[in-house]
Amino acid sequence: MDQAIADVLAIYDARMADDMRKMKAARDGQASFDEVRDQVLLAVGPETGRLINILARGMTAPTILELGTSYGYSGIWLAEAARASGGRLITMEKADYKANYAREMSVKAGLADHVDFRVGDAVQMIRDLPHGVDFVLVDLWKDLYVPCLEAFYPKLNPGAVIVADNMRQPDPVEAAKYQAAVRAMPKMTSIPVPVGSGLEISRFDAA
Ligand SMILES: C[S@@+](CC[C@H](N)C(=O)[O-])C[C@H]1O[C@@H](n2cnc3c(N)ncnc32)[C@H](O)[C@@H]1O
Repeated sequence: MDQAIADVLAIYDARMADDMRKMKAARDGQASFDEVRDQVLLAVGPETGRLINILARGMTAPTILELGTSYGYSGIWLAEAARASGGRLITMEKADYKANYAREMSVKAGLADHVDFRVGDAVQMIRDLPHGVDFVLVDLWKDLYVPCLEAFYPKLNPGAVIVADNMRQPDPVEAAKYQAAVRAMPKMTSIPVPVGSGLEISRFDAA
């Protein structure tokens, strides 16, 4: 990681510490849960960030798809991998103010040239993508994981890797539906990985 990226990650780290305080206030009934959920990063965290960076960096010129940009934390890890591997990141978010912040941070990190920010409903936008996706991070609202999987599955290149976050929390019921669906997909190998909030990592193969 170069200094510009390290500086941007440090800004996110400070914001995450503040987010913990806001979430506690919401849990204690001192703040509106919906308002707080909209303000906090809801980020994958540093361990998952590093893992997705390692996985995507190992690919050759990958098309990386991120579902759930939020304020851009995981996108920094993925954009760095895109730059290092000669690939590109397409990231999707329904809230324009979050995508705008994420775009500003990618400029600060020197990574903006490697990111295509798309604002709108991810399920619809995935359907409009051409074939040829090599890496997917699934990290939006949990009831959308299966509809997103069904939308991006036909777009995957052989060897594509899918990382789905939040398998342990906050919604294990929706997570179990996603795990069952991804494991039942033809030509898919999949395993739970106890990193961060719990991941399901899957690989799509041609044969
Ligand atoms: C858990 S956060 C993503 C965190 C981000 N990946 C990170 O680690 O920094 C989930 C995001 O999905 C977005 N989202 C929810 N429904 C969506 C939809 N239909 N299309 C696109 N984004 C959506 C939410 O606005 C929220 O910002």
